[in-house]
Amino acid sequence: MIGEIHTFENAHTLAGGVAGRILETLSEAVTTSGTASLVLSGGKTPRDVYQLLGSEDCRDSVPWSLVHLFWGDERCVPPTMPESNYRMAKEVLLDAIGIPERNIHRIHGEAPPQDAARAYEREIRSALGLRHDAWPHFTLVLLGLGTDGHVASLFPGTLALQERKRIVTEVYVESLKSSRITLTFPALNSAEEIVVLVSGKLKAPIFQKIRSSDTPEYPAQLVQPVSGRVHWYIDREVAEAGGGWDAP
Ligand code: 6PG
Repeated sequence: MIGEIHTFENAHTLAGGVAGRILETLSEAVTTSGTASLVLSGGKTPRDVYQLLGSEDCRDSVPWSLVHLFWGDERCVPPTMPESNYRMAKEVLLDAIGIPERNIHRIHGEAPPQDAARAYEREIRSALGLRHDAWPHFTLVLLGLGTDGHVASLFPGTLALQERKRIVTEVYVESLKSSRITLTFPALNSAEEIVVLVSGKLKAPIFQKIRSSDTPEYPAQLVQPVSGRVHWYIDREVAEAGGGWDAP
């Protein structure tokens, strides 16, 4: 497995560890280059991380007016729907940190998938001032891990896994009977730092499969930053399943 593994006692301390890493990485980037870009993950696991980032103790630790927020993927639903990754982040983070609207780069899941993907790619290029053939070098990309080994909306058996030209693609996910919009692997792997958040015993089997095999059977094994770093943040339930826990 590529990258460094950081293990925490439980979901609460894990969320604290990830929030701390995000704050530290964004602060460093703002100090050195005056700006930073954070790609938020969808799903349920990161909710505690976003809640911490938006809490009174943390919300002023980063000059959010210098940070641009993106999403790794989005469901093809309006932003008001419970399934929307944007809606969850807005509820627990965006409204709390007072980040300027112009810094929030939402994927328009309410639009037809191909239109939403093209529009999001244009938005990324414009927000980061990319030349037409350049890849984005996000400061930090936060990813979750599905029990089938997907990251973002790069699901097993989908053509999205092979996309090598576009930053963003639309994908129909048969197992979900729905479409998604997702960053592609070249876009993810051009990041300066990738943090993969894995919590709970349901995720232990897939994590151990990924950890113990170098042949890329699962999408998550294609998380291989070109020049950046990847960090796996896991809790005890995930670590113990593979005998990876050195009891404190
Ligand atoms: C999404 C995510 C997806 C998620 C994993 C884990 O839109 O659902 O981007 O990749 O991170 O499915 O989801 P949970 O955190 O809910 O287990």
